[in-house]
Amino acid sequence: MKSVLSERAAQLKPSATLAISAKEKELKSQGIDVIGFGAGEPDFPTPPRIREAGKNSLDRGDTFYTPVGGTLELRKAVVRRFSEDYGLEYKPENVVVSCGAKHSLYNIFQAIISQGDEVICIAPYWVSYPEMVALAGGKPVIVQTSEKRMFEPEIEAIASSMTSSTKAIILNYPSNPSGLMYSEKFLNELASLVSKKDLLVISDEIYDKLLFDGKKYTPFATLPGMKSRTITVNGVSKTYAMTGLRIGYLATDSMEVVKATTNIQSQSTSNPSNTAQAAAVEALSGPQGEVSEMRAIFERRRELIIDLINQIPGLSVIKPDGAFYAFVNISNFVGKSGVSGSVDFAQYLLEKHHVACVPGTPFGSDDHIRLSFATNEQIISEGMRRIKTACSEL
Ligand SMILES: Cc1ncc(COP(=O)(O)O)c(C=O)c1O
Repeated sequence: MKSVLSERAAQLKPSATLAISAKEKELKSQGIDVIGFGAGEPDFPTPPRIREAGKNSLDRGDTFYTPVGGTLELRKAVVRRFSEDYGLEYKPENVVVSCGAKHSLYNIFQAIISQGDEVICIAPYWVSYPEMVALAGGKPVIVQTSEKRMFEPEIEAIASSMTSSTKAIILNYPSNPSGLMYSEKFLNELASLVSKKDLLVISDEIYDKLLFDGKKYTPFATLPGMKSRTITVNGVSKTYAMTGLRIGYLATDSMEVVKATTNIQSQSTSNPSNTAQAAAVEALSGPQGEVSEMRAIFERRRELIIDLINQIPGLSVIKPDGAFYAFVNISNFVGKSGVSGSVDFAQYLLEKHHVACVPGTPFGSDDHIRLSFATNEQIISEGMRRIKTACSEL
């Protein structure tokens, strides 16, 4: 039988980050002791108060459909966080809750992209942006950056990537995969540029609370004139260690976007899980102490992993400002012992030294691998010991 797939589905690549964790799980199920630097999720259990709220919701019998775009209670809780944390004022009707920030992004691209519209993605980018843009019929336009400039693009490079088909630009800081922030100067220059060109900004701020060195976060919508042209995306996965509960959201002044994303959701998934929404209300509204505790642990792990990477001849890394990723330059090993790029390097680490990481290619750089430090210090030390051996044997 010939392929039954649509062109769209046939062209879609699987998520590389999920693929590597699947391979890691497979090796582990064979009894192999694999060190996992692949995961894109906190290793902490969801705080008890949040789990309790989910259980209480079930016990109350709240197992029915909720409004498609989320319960009023949860949208109010989201609004309160924006207001208290950043002085950003939204109303509950500006918020659409979905099954994770990934789902919010998917809905946004489906809502705003017509065939051939272009969306600017800054490399290195989160793996799903170009694929989601393409799936919606759009064209991802990649703006390259350099490590010399801390992966921050020249504003001129963004300006010259714009065409009459440019619809939006997607931002993500601190970034997955580099953990780096953009400078205030760059963000302000970008704000002027998008105003001049009348563009939409999608700001994926999923790691806003995981920022180190006492740095303060600037949501893009707080920059002068930007609230009306920014769709902010966030969620509870990373901040509250709730990845499996699947709650994310968008906030925007554009009621057109609210309506379209809600309609898309109403014809596809309907509301996100009622139970998970109740847990998310508690996450966002209750005491926020665990967030700082988890951030402090990630910050200690960052010190450890960066120090250990810097001790390995041939590897280099820029110290991340936040999130839980180190984007390690492996280019000195390319061409050695048949390693032709990051995929080969990651495969070599996994198969020969039982260390799982994610190759840089799906993030837009074949010179890097991504190591997640959402794992404990003992595992980080052992994993880096193995990587040191692996590098010395190449
Ligand atoms: C940059 C970025 N955006 C969005 C997401 C999706 O998060 P969620 O679990 O809320 O769908 C992730 C998760 O890896 C991410 O790294």
